[in-house]
Amino acid sequence: MDPSASGLIHRLAEAGQSHLLQFWGELSPEEQADLNLDLQGMDFQEINGFFKNAMETSSSSKQEKMDARMEPVPREVLGSVTRDRECLKDWELAGLRCISQSKVSALLLAGGQGTRLGVSYPKGMYDVGLPSHKTLFQIQAERILKLQQLAEQKHKIKCCIPWYIMTSGRTMESTKDFFSRHNYFGLDKSNVIFFQQGMLPAMDYNSKIILESKGKLSMAPDGNGGLYRALGNQGILGDMERRGIEFIHVYCVDNILVKVADPAFVGFCEQKGADCGAKVVEKNNPTEAVGVVCKVDGHYQVVEYSEITLATAEKRSADGRLMFNAGNIANHFFSFSFLRDVVQKYEPKLQHHVAQKKIPYVDAQGQLIKPDKPNGIKMEKFVFDIFQFAKTFVVYEVLREDEFSPLKNADIQDGKDTPTTARHSLMSLHHRWVLNAGGHFIDENGRRVPAIPSLKDGTDLPIKCEISPLVSYGGEGLEELVREREFHPTLMIDGQGVHELVKNGV
Ligand code: UD1
Repeated sequence: MDPSASGLIHRLAEAGQSHLLQFWGELSPEEQADLNLDLQGMDFQEINGFFKNAMETSSSSKQEKMDARMEPVPREVLGSVTRDRECLKDWELAGLRCISQSKVSALLLAGGQGTRLGVSYPKGMYDVGLPSHKTLFQIQAERILKLQQLAEQKHKIKCCIPWYIMTSGRTMESTKDFFSRHNYFGLDKSNVIFFQQGMLPAMDYNSKIILESKGKLSMAPDGNGGLYRALGNQGILGDMERRGIEFIHVYCVDNILVKVADPAFVGFCEQKGADCGAKVVEKNNPTEAVGVVCKVDGHYQVVEYSEITLATAEKRSADGRLMFNAGNIANHFFSFSFLRDVVQKYEPKLQHHVAQKKIPYVDAQGQLIKPDKPNGIKMEKFVFDIFQFAKTFVVYEVLREDEFSPLKNADIQDGKDTPTTARHSLMSLHHRWVLNAGGHFIDENGRRVPAIPSLKDGTDLPIKCEISPLVSYGGEGLEELVREREFHPTLMIDGQGVHELVKNGV
């Protein structure tokens, strides 16, 4: 293995990255082969260019200037499940029609590393401890199955919602293996399509690529906006075209309440003739870690929570609500033609964002150092960075308690966005579905549990209740199962029927 023979030494020197070979003589032949392979596939000039542009745009003076250019979303592009109740049914019907014509696909962003949750496997494989112990992947798969069934029943026509799943170098094999072991959760294997996003090296502040060991670069996925490059170079756009897909629902893996391919959202966007749309919830706390959908210089954009200044995040309108309150829940709608234009024309224009990180590295002596303050950056594109290119952009506001409860962090007491909060959100939603369908819960003494549980014992644990997505997608179809009936928690409703699980016997 001779790096000079392939011109690699020269390419590295030209790009100021020669240090990547500094331990070459100490590596085993296998390590040399691996490093050589990694380096051969990289365009160092391009990476240096990404670094330069990303550092320039992330400088704090530019950020402050951007604050002054931000405007909230105007009412005319906003649809709301509460304020536009009378339109909801029509939107849903329009969406179901598109689904029945097999024009709608779901696209899952699952290439993240789940660092905050602290598990070594893909987040979609996480079991938050529901009575059924279903994972996030299974819940989403079953929602797709149910939605196909609802559209088929309504329109008497067989249809399918292809499910595109973006993984990264780190999550691909385990994700595919998980689906295969679980028989694609009942979905047709040919309609679950995996593809892989790119990776980029971490860099120090002097634009040097970081070595995480003597023979290995520190690499990370290129952000969920890596989607667009991957859609082109992995043949996914072509697959969508062959299948006649017209509308795509893109969403993040971690939201346990996600309404995959939500017909009301799709229908709303379709009826408005939108090429791009974002689902939001009202942000009610200035420091909540969600991006905000807004306009900057007249173009729609999400200003990420890491990029907004506190002063702007705290601004309030005359009614006392946050001025920038359109909280991004990472649920996006794209028309196929818009997505094609993005991949073919706009993607190269997208800038990388900078995340300052503590990145373990080997120093010049070959010692592994774990820094205690940020020593470099990771570069990421964001999925919503293409909003600026939309011709007709719309925003769809939904209720947090119905649609947004992300799993970000490991469980700690009173933690936010944890397995416990995700589990509680789902059970609390299903509890409300049962009550709305005319069912009741009773305690161990046979007394009805009030709809709003009292906090008298100091806990606010939700009623234990779980409804399989195979039974109900959004609360529909439950009356005949629960009306006028009383249940002891834990209540489970699934394809086999209605069960009460005896305490401790679950
Ligand atoms: C994301 C949104 C934020 C929103 C919040 C809501 C982005 C950039 N930010 O923030 O505006 O308010 O969710 O929960 O979308 N992923 C990849 N590849 C990557 C990195 C991430 O596929 O290289 C996927 C993850 O698997 C996950 C999703 O993108 O499904 C979001 O990633 P995460 O890093 O958790 O985003 P947040 O910072 O929580």
